[in-house]
Amino acid sequence: MHTITWYGHATFGMQIGQYQILVDPYFSQNPVTPVTAQEVSADFILITHGHFDHVGDSVEIAKRCGSLIIANAEIAGWMKNKGVQAHPQQIGGGYQHPFGYVKLTPALHGSKLPDGSYGGLAAGFLITTNDHKTIYLAGDTGIFSEMALLGEEGIDLAVLPIGDNYTMGPKDALRALKMLQPKTVIPMHVNTWDLIAQDVDAWKQQVESTTDTHCHPLKPGESFSF
Ligand code: NI
Ligand code: MN
Repeated sequence: MHTITWYGHATFGMQIGQYQILVDPYFSQNPVTPVTAQEVSADFILITHGHFDHVGDSVEIAKRCGSLIIANAEIAGWMKNKGVQAHPQQIGGGYQHPFGYVKLTPALHGSKLPDGSYGGLAAGFLITTNDHKTIYLAGDTGIFSEMALLGEEGIDLAVLPIGDNYTMGPKDALRALKMLQPKTVIPMHVNTWDLIAQDVDAWKQQVESTTDTHCHPLKPGESFSF
């Protein structure tokens, strides 16, 4: 059994076996999160891309907890320059970390780091846990047809942006689900700001009436076990 907790926006905590993993830890500037950066801890921190709302408080958390950052090589190098341990990967490449096999996946998005540095290509993560659960964290992305290839891997849980404007909106996220075919989907990158406000309950209805996927929206602070 594993647990995923949504902290609002694109920020998640996962408990996979004995390991605590944070994804895109954006707390101190996050208008919707119920917890602070000081209240969370992580063995590993996954960062999808360099934007401020994804790099967030990762340096501070990693220094306090001794976390290992997993990200593309450009972001990993930037983190090492800040005195944080980081494991560089690149899109299409996977590596067996202690909690599972982590592969970087494509994402259609930008990745400039908060200080203006080049952050490489935006990415998502496909995680296969040691007990063979597959989790797809899409990151910030528009829809792309290679999602069908990811779907072939057999996804248990997909985490998709549905906020529109910066990422897929509800309609494209629904089309993406038809390629990804996950057992369960959790929507994210939504209702942080007015610019990405969406009716999540309406989207859940559409997902469950037109696909075989179970939609499990979370409120910030809520968890889902799988
Ligand atoms: Ni972004
Ligand atoms: Mn974002």
